[in-house]
Amino acid sequence: MGDWLGGKLRLTCVQCGREFPWGFYPQCTVCAGALVEIEYNLARVRLTSSGCPMDRFFDLLPLMSRESIIDGGDGNTPCFHARELGRAIGLDKVYIKDETKQPTLTTKDRMGALVVAVFRELGIRQFVTSSTGNSCTSLARIVSRYPDDIRMSIFVGDEFLQRLNWPNEPNITVYWLKNGTFVDAHEAARWFSQNHPEWVSERGFFSFAKRESLKTAYLEAVEQIPEPIEYYFQGISSAMGLYSTFGAAQQLLGLGRIARLPAMVGVQEETCNPMVRAWERGAERMEEQDIIRRPHGLSKSTLRGDSRMVYPYVRRAMVESGGFAVTATQEEMREARELVRQTEGLDICYTSAMTVAAARKLAQAGRLRRDAVIMLNITGADRVGQPSPMPHYIVERDGSGWTVTPADPVRDVGVMERVRQVLVEQNRLPTDTRIDSETRLVDGGLALDSVGLLEFSLALEREFGCHISENELTPQHFATVGTVADLMRSKITREPAGAPN
Ligand SMILES: Cc1ncc(COP(=O)(O)O)c(C=O)c1O
Ligand SMILES: [Zn+2]
Repeated sequence: MGDWLGGKLRLTCVQCGREFPWGFYPQCTVCAGALVEIEYNLARVRLTSSGCPMDRFFDLLPLMSRESIIDGGDGNTPCFHARELGRAIGLDKVYIKDETKQPTLTTKDRMGALVVAVFRELGIRQFVTSSTGNSCTSLARIVSRYPDDIRMSIFVGDEFLQRLNWPNEPNITVYWLKNGTFVDAHEAARWFSQNHPEWVSERGFFSFAKRESLKTAYLEAVEQIPEPIEYYFQGISSAMGLYSTFGAAQQLLGLGRIARLPAMVGVQEETCNPMVRAWERGAERMEEQDIIRRPHGLSKSTLRGDSRMVYPYVRRAMVESGGFAVTATQEEMREARELVRQTEGLDICYTSAMTVAAARKLAQAGRLRRDAVIMLNITGADRVGQPSPMPHYIVERDGSGWTVTPADPVRDVGVMERVRQVLVEQNRLPTDTRIDSETRLVDGGLALDSVGLLEFSLALEREFGCHISENELTPQHFATVGTVADLMRSKITREPAGAPN
């Protein structure tokens, strides 16, 4: 094995063991797709008592020079014994790490400052990314502080634009897929970076800067919770938070600060749970049958239906820690969110509510001891009523590629909003009615009858200038506002040549 880089860390391919110099190597340059893992020189680790988490945990973070540290004002969130909640769900030692107290209300604020610090240290001056809202909002908050040093381009799907929350900034460009999903935005961002290699693709889970930043929630909690943590619960998408937390626990074990690894428990929603599917099959790899092609759900920040690339790493974290992956249903999530409001007075997002729902279910099933010490990473709350940036460009699918045109603030309206307007008009609902993709049309929700449905579909035909055939008027297509939006998207986007409409 080679020397520690800067005496501090090593970047090593998990597959072939090749070591890399200090630089941005998300994946091995030889083994396609393999993770370049970070290992820290534990013999040299000295954690400080600094008030800035990046400074305090510097020796366990991927930065070479203390000069590079950015104090983003993030972290140091409360962590408390949730006695009332615990009583309600049958667990005596539930601790909430309250990441809703972060500057933009989510745990992703931990990544904004570290990503920008790493990129500045490495001389990376422009990068491209996509997001369901939270990580980009956190990145934007820090990127906007360095207008002369760094530029960010963001690809975002139709209904996720409103989840980006910052005023327009000169060094941030927004590409909006007004007819596209989060998956489309991800694909378009890839296409963009392949065609513009001068823009560094930030690579999500594979970016050690993003991934490693998230573990500080756990590092703080270890200092805050008076007993050893036995279970760590988190709502997972790519599970970079859970994976880096596993790494942090291994590091604390190596430093002799904890005696046992906490079990890593990843939670996903029933409508988008590829990790749980693969886990429950006992498979080492995620396969086609686990993948959710058109993900939807209440938990907007975890709508990643295909996580094949990362699953083996996440699985290893769960296996080696004695953890597992588990599903929460929408009903359980709604109840859990309300329960947290009632018992702890805390308003949390559905992604966070998944952890509460899962803990409750596991306790009821006898899979958790009543006195187990449990850390729930309450990763965020919804930002309500905050401004979104005006998109700069519209991106639309064009065969197997994409077209990019300057955005027109008057003409460009997303599919979801158009569906909402049709629904509001046709049902004479108040104009400020809040409808989202999970709003049910038939039973519950808006409770349209068959005549109402037919009228709705005729109004949609007029709005979108398309034909909806009788065999498309199915409960599957007309279950929720989101499934209708999906149907409309399939009608107005030009699919790759040869693909069915
Ligand atoms: C609030 C919140 N919780 C959890 C997650 C899941 O993150 P991960 O990618 O670490 O699985 C996200 C991702 O965007 C998020 O925004
Ligand atoms: Zn390799």
